[in-house]
Amino acid sequence: MHKDIEAILFDEETILKRIAELAKQITEDYKGENLTCICILKGGVFFMTDLLKKIDMPVMMDFMDVSSYGASTISSGQVRIIKDLEHSVKDRDVLVVEDIIDTGITLNYVVDLLKSREAKSVEIVTLLNKKDRREIELDIKYCGFDIPDYFVVGYGLDFDEKYRNLPYIGYLKEELYK
Ligand code: IMP
Ligand code: MG
Repeated sequence: MHKDIEAILFDEETILKRIAELAKQITEDYKGENLTCICILKGGVFFMTDLLKKIDMPVMMDFMDVSSYGASTISSGQVRIIKDLEHSVKDRDVLVVEDIIDTGITLNYVVDLLKSREAKSVEIVTLLNKKDRREIELDIKYCGFDIPDYFVVGYGLDFDEKYRNLPYIGYLKEELYK
C-alpha cells in the first residue's frame, strides 16, 4: 500500500466486479439506442475504460474536462469548461461517466449543458457517491458505491493531481490535506 494511504476502501477486484454489474444493467437499458458515453476528465478515465469494455453494444466515446476544484479538497462552486466535446450530442442518449459526485455542482452544470444542446436523454453513471455532501439535488441513474464523507484517492481520483494511478480506492491520510 502507498505510504500516504490510511486504508483501502475498495480494491481492484471489488471495483471491477461492481463495474461489470453496472455495465450489464446499462447494456440492458440502452440496447438499440444511440448511446454516447461522456467521460469527465481526468478522474473518470479509469472508470470509463473499464466500464465500456464490459458494455456489450455499440457506444460512442467523448470527453469533457470541467473543473470546480483547484489544488484543494473543497469545491470552489464555480464550474469551468477546460475541454469541450468533439461530437454533437443532439438526439443522442447520453450517459455522463464520472468518478465521484460530491456537492453535485459539477454534474448539475454538465447535465444542464447537455440538455440545452438537445440530447435525447441525459443520465449519470458515477463510480462513487458522497450523498451526505450533496448541495444540489441530482438524479443519479447508476451508482457504483455510496461512500462516507472522507477524501479518497486512486483509480482516477486525485489530490493535487497525485495518486490517480493507484489501482485501488483508498482514504488519503488526513494530515496530507487538512
Ligand atoms: P462536486 O462538483 O462537488 O460534485 O465535485 C465533483 C468532483 O470533485 C469530482 O469529479 C472530483 O474531481 C472531486 N472530488 C470530490 N470528492 C473527492 C474525493 O474524495 N477525492 C478526489 N476527488 C474528489
Ligand atoms: Mg479532481
